Amino acid sequence: MDELRTKYIEAIAAAADEATLEELRVQAVGKKGEVSLKMRELGKMTPEERQVAGPALNALKNEINSALAAKKVALSDAALDARLATEWLDVTLPSRNHRVGTIHPISQVTEEVTAIFADMGFAVAEGPQIETDWYNFDALNIPGHHPARAEMDTFYTHRAEGDERRPHVLRTHTSPVQIRTMEKDGAPIRIICPGRVYRADYDQTHTPMFHQVEGLALGKDISMANLKWVLEEFFSAFFGTDVKTRFRASHFPFTEPSAEVDIQCSWEGGTVKVGEGDDWLEVLGSGMVHPNVLKAGGIDPDEYQGFAFGMGIDRLAMLKYGIPDLRAFFDSDLRWLRHYGFASLDQPTLHSGLNR
Ligand code: PHE
Repeated sequence: MDELRTKYIEAIAAAADEATLEELRVQAVGKKGEVSLKMRELGKMTPEERQVAGPALNALKNEINSALAAKKVALSDAALDARLATEWLDVTLPSRNHRVGTIHPISQVTEEVTAIFADMGFAVAEGPQIETDWYNFDALNIPGHHPARAEMDTFYTHRAEGDERRPHVLRTHTSPVQIRTMEKDGAPIRIICPGRVYRADYDQTHTPMFHQVEGLALGKDISMANLKWVLEEFFSAFFGTDVKTRFRASHFPFTEPSAEVDIQCSWEGGTVKVGEGDDWLEVLGSGMVHPNVLKAGGIDPDEYQGFAFGMGIDRLAMLKYGIPDLRAFFDSDLRWLRHYGFASLDQPTLHSGLNR
């Protein structure tokens, strides 16, 4: 028994990890362990022998078990000490300086436009930026030979050689969403559709990708008068001052009659101010939705009518926030973004005020 004690107590003391400890436990006091086997031999002893050997074996078993438990605690303490010695954290250090990003003026203005139209009961609709030429042109009453197709400077996608299907286009305006919404929801309709559009054009006032917001309102008796009210209401809320509009007769294949809309402004020292003065600035195209367009969207033109408009979001942002060059919007110049960007928690709502 003394041999057993020495053997196991020393081995336990020398064990370097928990796996070794477990092996020792099985060898000594497991079901077939050396101490357990010795205990089985008690039955063969005389009662006198057993009286001495029984308690001694029990004591040995307990001693080994406590040695195992103590060593287990010691091992995990040592592991923790080792971690604490290598991993440490100075909580008194000042935090690192994280640059906070800003909201891009286009996102900001899109949110503002959405908030104002939402207040007038317009929902937001969306459509794909890669369109079929049917949604982008034909359904909008622009047939294949129509000059508007050429005028739009359309980007066409590529078809594999021998593939006779007509190529898709990058949508040149947000108007295809009119058709998609008519097909999906039927009349009545009151939606706006903000989004990206594409035309092959590049100078100080044109970029190949820009943003429009479409508007569409269909009902039994929606008229041009409603269009004028909605737009004046919109511009006044957006610019934070009463803004007069001027409607000029125009032509779009998808509206009849059609009007281009100007807003009142002044030019002083090369800067434009909206809502004052005697000058006019063209900001959108609009009109009463053409019966052919309603038909293409599956709506009966004898039952429903309404207005549509489309305007440039980038243009609105330039006007409201005094941003001179359109191209800078998409240069991703950090200094520009920090200067013209908006704080992320400063999102527009009608009650907090849309103007900073
Ligand atoms: N889709 C026209 C454009 O991009 C704008 C427009 C929309 C005009 C709706 C009338 C009605 O120029």
